[in-house]
Amino acid sequence: MNKITIAIDGYSSTGKSTVAKQIAKYLGYVYVDSGAMYRAITYFAMQKGFINNDDFNKEALIYNLPKVKVSFKFNEDLGFAEVYLNDVNIENDIRTLAVSNFVSKVAAVSEVREQLVKQQQQMGENKGVVMDGRDIGTVVFPRAELKLFMTASAEKRALRRYDELIERGDAVSYDDVLKNVQERDYIDSNRKDSPLIKAKDAIEIDNSNLSLDEQFNKILQLAKMTI
Ligand code: C5P
Repeated sequence: MNKITIAIDGYSSTGKSTVAKQIAKYLGYVYVDSGAMYRAITYFAMQKGFINNDDFNKEALIYNLPKVKVSFKFNEDLGFAEVYLNDVNIENDIRTLAVSNFVSKVAAVSEVREQLVKQQQQMGENKGVVMDGRDIGTVVFPRAELKLFMTASAEKRALRRYDELIERGDAVSYDDVLKNVQERDYIDSNRKDSPLIKAKDAIEIDNSNLSLDEQFNKILQLAKMTI
C-alpha cells in the first residue's frame, strides 16, 4: 500500500500524541514525538546548569549542541518509542512541569531547531510516519499528504495535562498547569523561527467535545481517504 506522511500540529496538550500513536499503530507507521526531542534538549540544558531558575545561558547550550544526541528506541511493553539523551533513557524525566516551563524558550533557539528539524526530516524520509509537533506541516514536512491542526480550549487542555501529572504522582496545581499551557501557546505562536501556525492545507480538528474513539475514527477516516 502507498505510504504517506501524516503531520499533526497544534497547541500544547491537545492530545496530538495520543491520537498520533493510535493512528501509527493501526497503519503500521512509525510515530515520532517531536516535542520529546525539544524536551530532551531542555533536560540536557538543565542537567548541565545552562538553565538556572529564570536564567538561560543560550550561548553555552548552542556551543554544546554537537554533543547532544537525541534518539528513540521502541519499547515493546509500552507500544511506543521512548526518548534517549546520549543513550540514556529519559522518557520519564522530560514530562515534568519544570521541563515544560522552559521548553518553549529552548525551542525558540534557531540552532536547536535547525539540528532537530534535520533529524526529523531524516526520520521521515521513507514516509510511513506520523509526526506530531508545532511546525511539522509547515516546516518539517511541508509536502505531507495529510496535515492536521488540533485545537481545544485552554481549560480543557490544562485539565487533561493536570490529570496526567497527578496520575504520575507529581505535586502540581491546576492553576500552574493552566498558566504553563497558556505561556507555551504564546511563546510557540509568537517566536520568530517557525512559529506555530496552521498550514494552509491543514484540516482543523477541535477535540474539546470529542471522545478519544470519536477523534481516532475521524482521523483514521481522513488517513484512509488520503492513502
Ligand atoms: O509536544 P510537547 O508539548 O511535548 O512539546 C513541548 C514544546 O516543544 C512545545 O511547547 C514547543 O515549545 C516545542 N516544540 C516545537 N516544535 C515542535 C514540537 C515541540 O517548538 N515540532
